[in-house]
Amino acid sequence: MPLSSLLQILKKNTRLTRRQACRLGGIFGLSFYGLGEFRATHAFARRRNIFEKEKSMKLPIPMLDGDVSLERAIKQRRTIRSFVDKPLTVGQLSQILWAAQGITDDRGLKRAAPSGGALYPIDIYAVMGKNGVRELAPGIYHYDPIHHSIQKIAGTDAREDVAVASLRQMWMATAPVILVLTAEYRRITIKYGERGKRYAMIETGHIGQNIFLQCQAIGLSAGIVGAFYDKEVTRAINSQKNHEPLIIMPVGWER
Ligand SMILES: Cc1cc2nc3c(=O)[nH]c(=O)nc-3n(C[C@H](O)[C@H](O)[C@H](O)COP(=O)(O)O)c2cc1C
Repeated sequence: MPLSSLLQILKKNTRLTRRQACRLGGIFGLSFYGLGEFRATHAFARRRNIFEKEKSMKLPIPMLDGDVSLERAIKQRRTIRSFVDKPLTVGQLSQILWAAQGITDDRGLKRAAPSGGALYPIDIYAVMGKNGVRELAPGIYHYDPIHHSIQKIAGTDAREDVAVASLRQMWMATAPVILVLTAEYRRITIKYGERGKRYAMIETGHIGQNIFLQCQAIGLSAGIVGAFYDKEVTRAINSQKNHEPLIIMPVGWER
């Protein structure tokens, strides 16, 4: 297929001008399957890991069968605001992150939660306390779904800072782990314009419910917090400049 036809397909499948399509094609490479179906997905999902310089730790393989039915998990799910001072295991952390954003498709492209255009604009940061995860040092970690691994980006217990940034909801700091879900909007607005922001927020809701239900299914609980100062949270977790926090979920053992 000549390059001009490929660019034509790229332009038709996105809301880009020909010039932008050319640039995008050049930057990310063009991936086509079957009858010329455009897969920007692939290029974005496999984008360079932003924290690749940090030491990466592979997480255990998640289990695909549990003891609690989906119906029971839905029935029992509640927002929890008080946690026992007891660490999670790495296996539990792995299971929760997989349910949130893990790769669930044999071709390695699609994830546990749906995403507009499969562009996956959401990142997850795990803020771990001193007694947060049994085998891990306290700190701030970033989840890499493609390799099902985490990278430590800071070595401080930032739970109190996150709680203070969340209008001093200090109960959050009692959780062994606090998950911060952020959006990098340009990953999705490049295709859908302003509407992409709406899609990113909807996606965060899906991810949040997966976290809730997965916690419930393995005997843990979660809270959810939308009341926070964005900039203060960004500073507390040392996130990438363009990763905007959307929702925060403390997880652990219900008191
Ligand atoms: C987008 C969103 C933001 C929320 N923000 C907070 C919050 O800042 N603090 C809090 O204690 N609960 C927060 N909640 C939890 C709600 O208060 C809770 O979901 C509601 O009371 C229903 O209870 P349930 O989740 O146990 O069913 C939030 C929930 C959602 C969906």
